[in-house]
Amino acid sequence: MNKIVIQGGKRINGEVDISGAKNAAVAILPAAILASEGKCCIENVPNIKDVNCMLKILESLGCEIERNESTIIIDSTNIKTFYANIEEVRKMRASYYLLGSMLSRFKECSVDLPGGCAIGVRPIDQHIKGFEALGTEVEISHGSLKVKADKLQGTNIFFDVISVGATINVMMSAVLAEGTTILENVAKEPHIVDVANFLNAMGADIKGAGTDVIRIKGVEKLHGCTYSVIPDQIEAGTFMIAAAACGDEVRIKNVIPKHLESISAKLIEMGVEIIEDDDSVIVKSNNNLKAVNVKTLPYPGFPTDIQQPMSVLLTVAEGRSIVNESIWESRFRHLDELEKMGAKVKVEGRIAVFDGVNKLTGAEVEASDLRAGAAMVIAGLMAEGTTRISGLEHLDRGYPDIEKKLSALGAQIKRINVE
Ligand code: EPZ
Repeated sequence: MNKIVIQGGKRINGEVDISGAKNAAVAILPAAILASEGKCCIENVPNIKDVNCMLKILESLGCEIERNESTIIIDSTNIKTFYANIEEVRKMRASYYLLGSMLSRFKECSVDLPGGCAIGVRPIDQHIKGFEALGTEVEISHGSLKVKADKLQGTNIFFDVISVGATINVMMSAVLAEGTTILENVAKEPHIVDVANFLNAMGADIKGAGTDVIRIKGVEKLHGCTYSVIPDQIEAGTFMIAAAACGDEVRIKNVIPKHLESISAKLIEMGVEIIEDDDSVIVKSNNNLKAVNVKTLPYPGFPTDIQQPMSVLLTVAEGRSIVNESIWESRFRHLDELEKMGAKVKVEGRIAVFDGVNKLTGAEVEASDLRAGAAMVIAGLMAEGTTRISGLEHLDRGYPDIEKKLSALGAQIKRINVE
């Protein structure tokens, strides 16, 4: 087993490069299935476990894959099976994107039900509602979900809840449908726009991504293209919070500052200085953090995926902070670990109340999910003494080279192997 060991209390300074967005990449890679001609060359793909998992799944279906650092070339012309059932499918949430892309291209697909972070009930009823509205028969049996259609017919779909996954999945399933599909009450996250741009680069006709309504005119076929994944909003936000926690001045490079506005606004409210550039943000902290209230919301609201790292800052902010987690009902498991480090926090359902303490102290802690892992790392950087973090299989799903990036900023962090 591996652990991360952090000697806390060191200031971090300098520059850090943000990688491509995980949640865009894990949708764009399966979307490459839609190219019946030519190869997709996808650049700026982060080197993380979820990407590796998705590539294994695509290979198991018959896609040919070449990889050169952050560039991945996918040839999906010779897909040989419509059944995605290898172990990797059950390990990651994003395997549900195979349903939309395979259904679109082959009108048929079967995928074992997806896994992912344990952060609450994760229904896929809105995905199914969209597929059915387009004329698909959906069947769940023996742990897999099967979709089959004679033809896909464009239609109007109003989602009951705003869902990132359902928006992307149904958008993918409609690009080759006959006629026009209008999706309403859709998610507006940056990765929705990124996937739509990728599909358009393949020849799709999608308008409105990034707004509440997406209009898709079905086209006959899609082809390969070259495309670069957007920077990761959540990795960038995580580094902004690390910088606010224990940095003097940190420049976070290769970001789209617009995507970070809700995070910047909250940090400014806490007393942190944020300077925006074209493609970077500078975070200057004076270690005098004020308590704030946070409510997680779909984009452009405060991202749920940043709630766990942000809560670490709140443990030491002066006064009482309240967090309302409105997206996932079980995204507070990291708080038990922060209590071991001296945090004062009370949880009642989806609400967590923090009373700021002077400092955290290093402890033996566990990452219960991906963003909890990032939270533990930030807590370790801030804390007095040594913090040892286990559960790295979660962290590695979404943060490329996290120890390397933080070490370059001056943090004392290393990964060790323990028997
Ligand atoms: C995506 O999950 C992300 N995962 C999550 O990131 C992120 O937390 C989430 O969006 C919200 O931003 C990927 O992109 C792979 P949703 P997703 O469908 O698509 C309810 C991370 O840390 N809902 O937007 O699965 C659901 O219960 C991960 O990187 C339904 O009711 O999330 C939730 O309350 C964790 N029915 C809300 O909608 C559905 O059919 C939002 O879920 C679908 C969702």
